[in-house]
Amino acid sequence: MSGFSPEWLTLREAADRAARAPSILEAVRKAHADAPRCRIWDLGAGTGASLRAFAELLPIEQHWTLVDHDPANLAAAVPALEAWAETSTQSDAGPMLHKDGRRILVRQQPADLSQLPAGTVPWERETPDLITASALLDLTSADWADAFAEACVASRSAVLATLTFDGRLDFSPTHEDDAAVRDAFAAHQRGDKGFGLALGPDATAVLAAALQRRGYRVLTAESPWRLGRHDGPLLAALVEGIAEAVAETDRLPPSRLAAWREQRMTKLESLIVGHEDLFGYWPD
Ligand SMILES: C[S@@+](CC[C@H](N)C(=O)[O-])C[C@H]1O[C@@H](n2cnc3c(N)ncnc32)[C@H](O)[C@@H]1O
Repeated sequence: MSGFSPEWLTLREAADRAARAPSILEAVRKAHADAPRCRIWDLGAGTGASLRAFAELLPIEQHWTLVDHDPANLAAAVPALEAWAETSTQSDAGPMLHKDGRRILVRQQPADLSQLPAGTVPWERETPDLITASALLDLTSADWADAFAEACVASRSAVLATLTFDGRLDFSPTHEDDAAVRDAFAAHQRGDKGFGLALGPDATAVLAAALQRRGYRVLTAESPWRLGRHDGPLLAALVEGIAEAVAETDRLPPSRLAAWREQRMTKLESLIVGHEDLFGYWPD
């Protein structure tokens, strides 16, 4: 399983749904309660997990545009969404999904979001009511977050950025190299992920400040994964991914990292992975 493959996104989807902060979701629901319809742009959409998670919070009529640079994820999104919906029909604009009394139009926009600072705002021809991004923000850079906040102000769109990694990795039982692994992983998180040096664990605070400086109201809340033995495949994939990232940093001797990985693969009982959710909205 590599990078952000459809298989990895499927593996994490249930944990993501359990983790998102109820207070943030409720704020999103309230903010859209009186609207007859909502236009949503989902950045780094993957296979459409944000649509599946947020549709129930939003009005009866929804127009989603899924933005991603990975053709494999966009290709997997429509079948996954059609399987999730009660029924789906084909309209000229794209698939129309029906679920819980909602009509949900899905469009796709292949785009490299790292180009945002160059002025290529993907929604420039349409004003979104809501811009969503799940598990994307920590990949972005300080310059990108600033340009993104500027683009949001121009459209006055609400912003929902969930599941941004905040640096917390609490393993149980503990291992003497947990702290060294955590530090090396955090350093890796701050490397270039295609947007310039990544914000990693600082991403939510940086975007919150950029939006607030421009007049947005911003709510944040923690949304950790709390994983236990019943999350075996996800835990194993995480340990593997963390070990691979740490190896790339050369901060831990290979033999120590191998011993840490081996212990975590066989004896890990629980893992908390810290995330934060953010909802920003323009005050009326
Ligand atoms: C961790 S995945 C999250 C996917 C989805 N939001 C979810 O919650 O399942 C990050 C997504 O961002 C996309 N992505 C990463 N860098 C990107 C870029 N520069 N432009 C567009 N999409 C990007 C990846 O292809 C991937 O689908």
